[in-house]
Amino acid sequence: MQVSNQTSGNAGGMPHWSSRFAFIMAAVGSAVGLGNIWKFPYMVGTGGGSAFVLVYLGCVLLIGAPILIAELMLGRKAQRAPAEALAHLGRVHGGTAAWGLIGVMGVVAALLILSFYSVVAGWAVAYVPEMLSGNLDKATAEMTGAAFGELLGDPMQLLLWHTVFMALTVFIVAGGVTGGIEAAVTWLMPLLFLMLLVLLGYAMVEGEFAQGLAYMFKPDFSALTPEVAIAAAGQAFFSLSIGLGTMLAYGSYLPRDISIPKTAVTVALADTTVALVAGCAIFPIVFASGLNPAEGPGLVFVTLPVAFGNMPFGLIVGAVFFVLLSVAALTSSISLLEPIVATIKERTRVSRLVLSIAIGIAAWLLGFATIWSFGDWSDVKILGDRNPFDSIDYLTSSIMLPLGGALMAVFAGWVLTREDLWHELGFDSRAMFNLWRFLVRFVAPVGVAVVAVNKILS
Ligand code: TRP
Repeated sequence: MQVSNQTSGNAGGMPHWSSRFAFIMAAVGSAVGLGNIWKFPYMVGTGGGSAFVLVYLGCVLLIGAPILIAELMLGRKAQRAPAEALAHLGRVHGGTAAWGLIGVMGVVAALLILSFYSVVAGWAVAYVPEMLSGNLDKATAEMTGAAFGELLGDPMQLLLWHTVFMALTVFIVAGGVTGGIEAAVTWLMPLLFLMLLVLLGYAMVEGEFAQGLAYMFKPDFSALTPEVAIAAAGQAFFSLSIGLGTMLAYGSYLPRDISIPKTAVTVALADTTVALVAGCAIFPIVFASGLNPAEGPGLVFVTLPVAFGNMPFGLIVGAVFFVLLSVAALTSSISLLEPIVATIKERTRVSRLVLSIAIGIAAWLLGFATIWSFGDWSDVKILGDRNPFDSIDYLTSSIMLPLGGALMAVFAGWVLTREDLWHELGFDSRAMFNLWRFLVRFVAPVGVAVVAVNKILS
């Protein structure tokens, strides 16, 4: 992330983003990642299509975006790292520092997510040489399925890419103040979007485009179970990077004169657009190649290579695509490591470098559980009938993020005063401000509670 060293005029001496643009890029870089291109399509597939998509969109609009605004606001107001920020604001405004526990839960969630995130990002990295090797030239669905199976069956290769990716994440976070990431997000993210549009074009011409669109958007709530609703809500949190303190940490580096609502809307729009375009590119190809939409975490890796294998210059295009996907994953993974480092750094005297490395190693070790989940441990069941990877994913996305996000919404909406909020946020109109406040006070917590209760009762 791009954080300039100027601390002038800011309480707490936090480093600050060099411009509104730099901040938006860092926040979009955090939000847009594997969650949009890998996770969203496979969750739509296992969640039965449009029911998942429509609940997801509703959650982004009514719960996710308002919480994103709240989280950024809390960080900027407190000028502290996540756990300490909530403890401090709780102490000053609510009479108890116990609110800091949300930040502690966030640190645990971030570590767990980072552990599998790095493994899956490793798959994306592995697909760069896979594309260039020519193995998938003129690929059929059988060939891409076999290639993905081969990758998953090779723990040493998975470990290698997992290690490379985690090392890069640690390297960037340890550096803290760097210009490299800003360039990466400014140029490479738009390029990734362009590649998605190329894939979308391919899907329109060669895929079952109408069928893909109908699958995603034609309202059909027969597939809507409490399980699907909770997964869709969790995906909204995951994709927007909210609920654990990432956006709180980024908000604490945000200069005062920037409008938080405008920024948040930009981030949410960009994030949702990328997910929807990815889905619209993938499902037509899934149907045209006879693949199973409910295939699971491998969906993107068996679908897109069919397109790359059969388009002009496809193998080069595919290699570039997976490089860009890896970069997008990197700008997200650093935003998982950053809040952990910032939180612990504020409470100890350990240096950023040592902390980054130590936490990186912890997440790297935890990642073994994910690697084995796609191999020898696939039959090990932890939460219900979920293997270790599915369990970590469920615990974080479906439980910890919604819980953390709803609690931050409650804190912002009920503990901070109306005037405090109005001054901190910079809304253009009172009406929009009132709408936002209503959403964080009532809709977000009640929405999360309803989904949770339904799930518990089911
Ligand atoms: N949003 C990222 C993605 O979609 C992942 C991510 C980064 C994240 N930071 C987060 C998810 C914080 C939850 C919370 O790939």
